[in-house]
Amino acid sequence: MNYNGIDFETYFKHYPDENGFFGKYGGAYISEDLKKAMEEITEAYFTICKSSKFIGELRKIRREFQGRPTPISYLERLSNSLGNVQLYVKREDLNHSGAHKLNHCMGEALLAKYMGKKKVIAETGAGQHGVALATAAAYFGLECDIYMGAVDIKKQAPNVTRMKILGANVIEVTHGLATLKEAVDAAFEAYAREYNDAIYCIGSVLGPHPFPMMVRDFQSVVGIEAREQFLSMTGELPDAVVACVGGGSNAMGMFSGFLNDPVELYGVEPLGRGEKLGDHAASLKYGEEGIMHGFNSIMLKDENGEPAPVYSVASGLDYPSSGPEHAFLHDLGRVKYDVINDEETIDAFFTLSRLEGIIPAIESAHAVAYGIKLAKEMGKGSVLINLSGRGDKDMDYIIEKYGIR
Ligand SMILES: Cc1ncc(COP(=O)(O)O)c(C=O)c1O
Repeated sequence: MNYNGIDFETYFKHYPDENGFFGKYGGAYISEDLKKAMEEITEAYFTICKSSKFIGELRKIRREFQGRPTPISYLERLSNSLGNVQLYVKREDLNHSGAHKLNHCMGEALLAKYMGKKKVIAETGAGQHGVALATAAAYFGLECDIYMGAVDIKKQAPNVTRMKILGANVIEVTHGLATLKEAVDAAFEAYAREYNDAIYCIGSVLGPHPFPMMVRDFQSVVGIEAREQFLSMTGELPDAVVACVGGGSNAMGMFSGFLNDPVELYGVEPLGRGEKLGDHAASLKYGEEGIMHGFNSIMLKDENGEPAPVYSVASGLDYPSSGPEHAFLHDLGRVKYDVINDEETIDAFFTLSRLEGIIPAIESAHAVAYGIKLAKEMGKGSVLINLSGRGDKDMDYIIEKYGIR
């Protein structure tokens, strides 16, 4: 399919280019030392990802350890309550460890093992990437350091405990807003000190090349499975596909299966408390071009041009930028990016729980809320929502803050 001059039939061959660019976005804006480390990772990735041994091992892990393929569920009661639109969810919440994050963590940790590294380092917001990486580290026998903002450590206590049980070191980050951006800052600093023995396993389609490409490739299993499953369940493709966007890994994984199809794609960003800078983290909607954490993308800036403070009820979405491929698809118009606020998210959290018996992660509840909104606007057709994770980690926080609805 050709869309605004881009041939999506051959898209993955050309994007990113050899320097990691999706159009003007992406790249590797880092020190010479780190550039060398990234080149080592890129070279290893391109060699290893083509080897049948690596592919075979990853497939076996996905099948026997992760629980893939995850199913698609038809949301019968929710669909009936909305009229003539059929809603479906891709159940990434049923991944071992509770979210899509394990898809790229098992890939990244397997790569670390092939490269002879002893340790994996990462940041985490909601704790799902941290739990997934701690799981992968335990599986492969690697050391694991997870950097996490002090605010998120309080908010996502069950995941902190899980990481510790799995043997990871959880390192508290207290500077700035003490949330996801600061955790990324700290993890980068640690990696700059330790890159000889460690690999930085970034938690989304973010950071310098090759991470946006590598994480997308590892996550593309979601979209490939979903397309096949949806076709065999319904005989058709969905009319619309919806996913929440923090850094953008679950969305890129899902969208990559449908980019070449006549399917509307929607990325959902968090509007938090409202449109004022500092009250949301909707970077693609309100941001401008800028460089942060080693890549060029669209980001929210303060009056000094620095990354702006951001907020969302969802710790996994409160990041002041999004992956460079999202910025590219945004400018191209192939994916539409829209917003959902905290209140709409909490409503969707309870709606999905009550009508379908599925408690979504608060991040994924943004996509559910948007799917419901879209269904009301569409009147007929089908919507596939990526349910990126399960809500166990959020229950205590939501009940304390919002009560039972
Ligand atoms: C369940 C879940 N969904 C979505 C996200 C957002 O990340 P991404 O945009 O990379 O998928 C997170 C991040 O922690 C998460 O835990």
